[in-house]
Amino acid sequence: MPEIETQEYRLNLILDGSLKNMEVVRTADELSRYHGCELVPTMGALHEGHASLIRAARRGNHRAGQADGAGTQDRGPRGGAPDRVNTSVVVSIFVNPTQFGPQEDLASYPRTLEADLQLCRDCGADAVFVPDDLTIYPEGAQSAASAALSLPLPPSATQPRLEDACRPAHFGGVCQVVKRLFELAAPRGAYFGEKDWQQFRVISQMVESSRRTELVIVPCPTVRDADGLAMSSRNRYLTEEAREHALGLVRALRAGSALLEAGEQLQAVQAKMAEVIAAHGLSLEYAVARDQESLLPPRNQSRVRLLIAAKLGKVRLIDNCEVGDRAIGG
Ligand code: PAJ
Repeated sequence: MPEIETQEYRLNLILDGSLKNMEVVRTADELSRYHGCELVPTMGALHEGHASLIRAARRGNHRAGQADGAGTQDRGPRGGAPDRVNTSVVVSIFVNPTQFGPQEDLASYPRTLEADLQLCRDCGADAVFVPDDLTIYPEGAQSAASAALSLPLPPSATQPRLEDACRPAHFGGVCQVVKRLFELAAPRGAYFGEKDWQQFRVISQMVESSRRTELVIVPCPTVRDADGLAMSSRNRYLTEEAREHALGLVRALRAGSALLEAGEQLQAVQAKMAEVIAAHGLSLEYAVARDQESLLPPRNQSRVRLLIAAKLGKVRLIDNCEVGDRAIGG
């Protein structure tokens, strides 16, 4: 197994009596050794939702069933046991300034690097990429933020009038940073949570239109707490009492899903979801049933997804589910 000489950032950790190494990578140059990796882009403040993405990347999910044996080769700096997929798994942690609106929580976004590194290591990441602003935006964050406003975006980032309407500059910043991370890491697979369904669709469409056929975008199911609340880095802002309000989102999804399965009309389903949101003291941004690919109003053949955004004071919460999704409980 080749040695990597970046002592300053190398973590040597004893786990279960064996030595496990995970590298913390700061520069584009260091990251270039991981080209061909499985990438999990994040903004840190990691929780079990992120952990599930890292584990899926560790399993090399998108290659399961491939006949040509791709994924069983060691392409990264890490050697591995012969019986497992041993492509390197890289987690990126970068709180991307260009995807936050001026009134949003960039300054107070939770930053928990030490705990994040522990979680990455425990989930089997080989490296964590923690760039500074200039590594991602050599032109400076200010110029990058202006450039993000005129970036051409896929239809799912402009047409649905969901997150795109509530957070006008958001997907410009997301596409900008994800594109940059893809350039720097040159991944074979990139893992995204269904929790942010519109983001997943936007990135899938962005990659499809770039014709990067070698890159697979892998969706991973939403991870929830036992009470059904979708895990989110922003949940740590919620008090016990606020959590009870926040449960309005998953309860609205359950109610909407049950009505749709019973054959109810879309208008009535959306009205019911809005009613549940209001009953929980939340302020509604949207509660809709959409075609899950285009995120436009469903047609006859559509697979339908319910999507909700609501605010509890300053905290903005989103959730979604496919109709009939048993994982949301009930
Ligand atoms: P962040 O909010 O840190 O989320 C990183 C990834 O974790 C996203 O793909 C998100 O959908 C996924 N995720 C978050 N909560 C989840 C949950 N409960 N279950 C499953 N997956 C979950 O999304 C971003 O960062 C940024 O926009 C980013 C893509 C990194 C670009 O800056």
